[in-house]
Amino acid sequence: MASRLPLLVLLATTCCCAIASDPSLLQDFCVADKMSQVSVNGFTCKDAKEVVAEDFFFSGLHVAANTSNKQGSAVTAANVMQIPGLNTMGVSMVRIDYAPKGQNPPHTHPRATEILAVLEGSLYVGFVTSNPDNTLISKVLNKGDVFVFPKGLLHFQYNYGTENAIALAALSSQNPGVITIANTVFGSEPSISDGILAKAFQVDKKTVNCIQAQF
Ligand SMILES: *[C@@H]1O[C@H](CO)[C@@H](O)[C@H](O)[C@H]1NC(C)=O
Repeated sequence: MASRLPLLVLLATTCCCAIASDPSLLQDFCVADKMSQVSVNGFTCKDAKEVVAEDFFFSGLHVAANTSNKQGSAVTAANVMQIPGLNTMGVSMVRIDYAPKGQNPPHTHPRATEILAVLEGSLYVGFVTSNPDNTLISKVLNKGDVFVFPKGLLHFQYNYGTENAIALAALSSQNPGVITIANTVFGSEPSISDGILAKAFQVDKKTVNCIQAQF
């Protein structure tokens, strides 16, 4: 009986993960047909007879992205937009480059849990639990360390080191989506009324306008 326990745990975990990601498969694959005019949840399938290895392929995660921007970080995505064969697969990847003191600012992925591995450098990372606790769960990661950001929760990474840092992350959606908090709250088009934001952040409208002007 005891020897069956690991198998049961594995089965339970597999069931849980299949349910927690994108809808499950009804066929071997459904390579995205980006030319199709038919609108569905995800993409319609390309004719299976026309599927080629290139549909499942992406090259470029060895290339460091340009981090010369205000945040000092850059994301290289390998999701269904780059790899049509990921359609319906419920998984994708990113490479994240961080300049020294660079950060991937607070953001959420509405459709994915993220598991991140540090390939180079050291990162201070964290996520915040939902209301009412809003607890910050954070940790310093070094090369080879892995950390999980639960689906939908606000999270960030900061390179506190003096060298460039690199992370590779897997996400449980073909199209995780990104909501960068500062940009969505203060940089929406058209903007959210400064009265609403002043009340939400408990500051005056001048302070809100000052932040909005940054976007
Ligand atoms: C990186 O981006 C900055 C800002 O957009 C640009 O000025 C610079 O030329 C870029 N560097 C490289 C190597 O592409």
